Amino acid sequence: MSRLVVVSNRIAIPNNAKQSAGGLAVGIMDALKNTSGLWFGWNGEISEISDEDEDDDLDMVEKDGITYASVPLNQNDYDLYYCQFSNAVLWPAFHYRIDLVDFQREAWEGYCRVNELLAKRLQSLIKPDDILWIHDYHLLPFAAALRKLGVNNRIGLFLHIPFPTPEIFSAVPTHEQLLEMLCEYDSLGFQTESDRTAFLDNLAQITPLEQKGDRLHHAFGQRFMTGVYPISIAPDSIKEMAEGPLSPKMVVMKEELGDAKNIISCERLDYTKGLPERFLAFEALLENYPQHRGGKVRYSQIAPTSRGDVQAYQDLRHQLEMEVGRINGKYGSMNRTPLFYLNQNFERRLLMKIFRLTDVGLVTPLRDGMNLVAKEYVAAQDPEDPGVLVLSRFAGAANELTSALIVNPYDRDEVAAALNQALNMPLAERLSRYNDMMDVLHKNDIAHWGEHYLKDLEAMTPRSSKQK
Ligand code: G6P
Repeated sequence: MSRLVVVSNRIAIPNNAKQSAGGLAVGIMDALKNTSGLWFGWNGEISEISDEDEDDDLDMVEKDGITYASVPLNQNDYDLYYCQFSNAVLWPAFHYRIDLVDFQREAWEGYCRVNELLAKRLQSLIKPDDILWIHDYHLLPFAAALRKLGVNNRIGLFLHIPFPTPEIFSAVPTHEQLLEMLCEYDSLGFQTESDRTAFLDNLAQITPLEQKGDRLHHAFGQRFMTGVYPISIAPDSIKEMAEGPLSPKMVVMKEELGDAKNIISCERLDYTKGLPERFLAFEALLENYPQHRGGKVRYSQIAPTSRGDVQAYQDLRHQLEMEVGRINGKYGSMNRTPLFYLNQNFERRLLMKIFRLTDVGLVTPLRDGMNLVAKEYVAAQDPEDPGVLVLSRFAGAANELTSALIVNPYDRDEVAAALNQALNMPLAERLSRYNDMMDVLHKNDIAHWGEHYLKDLEAMTPRSSKQK
């Protein structure tokens, strides 16, 4: 069996407070353990060194049969590669927000240079028959950078975020170069069929694209496969976290939630998540259904700061703070407010318990690759008395969790009506929807996701012997 090498911008180094082992990390770690694999990426630190001296700062840690190899970024790399090109060009464009794209040629060059630098660092660690699994939009040119160094290993990419249609992607001035670079991967995995189709449509617009069956393609002189692998969670371990005994902190929190009906949302503070739109939908609930006023319903929005060095994220934070004040000003009373906005990080275990105590999980991104919180909310529920998931049709998860209340996040009255329906839903209907969704989560859990992806990548013929 070939050794697995995973590369991602962030890696879950054991005992590193700056990196947290979320559900995805746990899934990747399982796949790595099976082959005594290597995980390579940024350690989350910013170093003082200049571009010229970035050579001797590779840190290797071994734990439970996995080797973690990480490097810091210097300030310039962090700004150009992470803040600017990854998060102020690719992230907004791939989430259909071209109005927020801030393209600077210097950032594009920095992005390519950091990919080449990371590829060079990794090259000395890989063996000829390793299988390389690269993750997400920070590393689109990574295979092309490795190929330039003569690496012929099988290399696959999994894109965690949506892929935009040609009308959107063509607004990124370097989209043609990016598409050509992507063809250097042996396999390209997407969250949904529409993401995969959008990628192929983009290619077909700029170069002859030959199909070899449904999943094998030939473009720019390269042969590669595409597939759909909706990422998932480990539902049983979420359930276990959610049902464990309550810590003293949790007992206090339970008291704070009180006997009101509780709506919960939790995500990184990001403009793709539809937070201002959701606040307006909550306001519409109180406006259109006055029976929920006066402390009968409370909505808690957990939104820890994310990418705080990027302007669009700072702007969003200010906008939310104003909106919360306005809505609470309108519907609060002398001793209570309806909307609780927590710009804080919550420990994962605690969060799963909070999910279980609430009546409605409100997950309404404007665009999202998958949205694992939606899946976690369902898995955390009490199987005897489950809460209801209200889910945006623009989250990848809506393709699978069809028994959620599916809404258009741009329609505040529709979301308000779904919230009202969820708050009044009889137990029998809640149970039936919950059981449907748990079936889906058990059929496609995180282990299945990893196995499915890697099986397809392993089946590809390595480059050296591959016919072009
Ligand atoms: C999304 C991306 C991930 C990223 C995560 C956190 O889920 O798909 O690649 O790691 O957000 O964002 P951050 O910028 O903090 O790594």
